[in-house]
Amino acid sequence: MISSGWSLCVDDLTKVYRRGTVANDSVCLRVEPGEVYGLLGPNGAGKSTLVKQVIGLLRPTSGRITLGGRDLVADPAAARRLCSYLPQAQMPIESLRSLEAIELTGRIRGGGRNPVRRRARELLDALDLGEWERTTGARLSGGVRRLVGFAMVTVWPGRVVILDEPTNDVDPLRRRLLWDEVRRLAGDGAAIVLVTHNVLEAEKAVDRLAIIDRGRLLAEGTPSALKDGKDRLRLQVMLRPGREDPAPEPFVLGSVRTGHTLVATVGSQDAGAAIAWAQRLVDVGHAEEYALTATTLEDAYIRLTGAAALDDPGARS
Ligand SMILES: Nc1ncnc2c1ncn2[C@@H]1O[C@H](COP(=O)(O)OP(=O)(O)OP(=O)(O)O)[C@@H](O)[C@H]1O
Ligand SMILES: [Mg+2]
Repeated sequence: MISSGWSLCVDDLTKVYRRGTVANDSVCLRVEPGEVYGLLGPNGAGKSTLVKQVIGLLRPTSGRITLGGRDLVADPAAARRLCSYLPQAQMPIESLRSLEAIELTGRIRGGGRNPVRRRARELLDALDLGEWERTTGARLSGGVRRLVGFAMVTVWPGRVVILDEPTNDVDPLRRRLLWDEVRRLAGDGAAIVLVTHNVLEAEKAVDRLAIIDRGRLLAEGTPSALKDGKDRLRLQVMLRPGREDPAPEPFVLGSVRTGHTLVATVGSQDAGAAIAWAQRLVDVGHAEEYALTATTLEDAYIRLTGAAALDDPGARS
């Protein structure tokens, strides 16, 4: 059952590190119980800094963080009790067996022996980890170790579950199992904060997301609200190696070139003209292939974070 009253509120949060790096700049966001909320942004955007302040590992320079009205900055012990956190780095479980590690964290978080044991088994089954339950951390592969870390964090979850890049190194099939489990946690009433730079994955897994770059929140909303609008389409053209960008056409609203791939945004009323243009590029040998599809969250992400870089070209070193 989803209980109301446990909203996570981050209000005007600023974190300046000792040497002057502004890692978070007046960030405001709110995550509700039952919700999967994505924090997306490029390397160094300030995502990990933000979540470390939520769980009381770092002290904000200014601003407020509350959970269900409790002040988490004033009471970091409450923050650690009420929030579960999978750090970006691997869990230090060299000499512990997987099942042992999962049960131990459940017990440390206050779960009773039998319910923790039951839940640990459920998680090992749900994530298809049974064959490694007696393997020590030092002998696990990177992806399995990541999943064991996830199980350690969620065996006895807090009101807020923060996952920093949970699917790093995890194979595609087990990623799906992990997302199912994340959804189950939200269904049981946890507020989930998912940190990632994998836009495609986030698009499928989150209810709402924030895009942050250089410490600032650039946009927030549901994945479909953040896309470039329903009246636009995405034309992807694979150029032949060594070819310049083709001359701009009036119906191209914007374009981004990455390697040999040109992604252009066009109005849906210009779909016919866009296909005819792309086909001409193929016919004259300028392009290898093309595809016209709905716009993706990745396009919005590149537009937002790319625009931020152009506004402030010297900021990222
Ligand atoms: N302990 C620290 N001391 C000083 N500066 C730091 C510290 N940790 C992070 N930073 C800086 O703060 C900024 C934000 O870093 P942060 O780790 O929060 O980014 P991130 O969005 O999590 O990046 P990534 O996607 O690479 O994990 C960066 O400029 C980083 O160099
Ligand atoms: Mg990080």
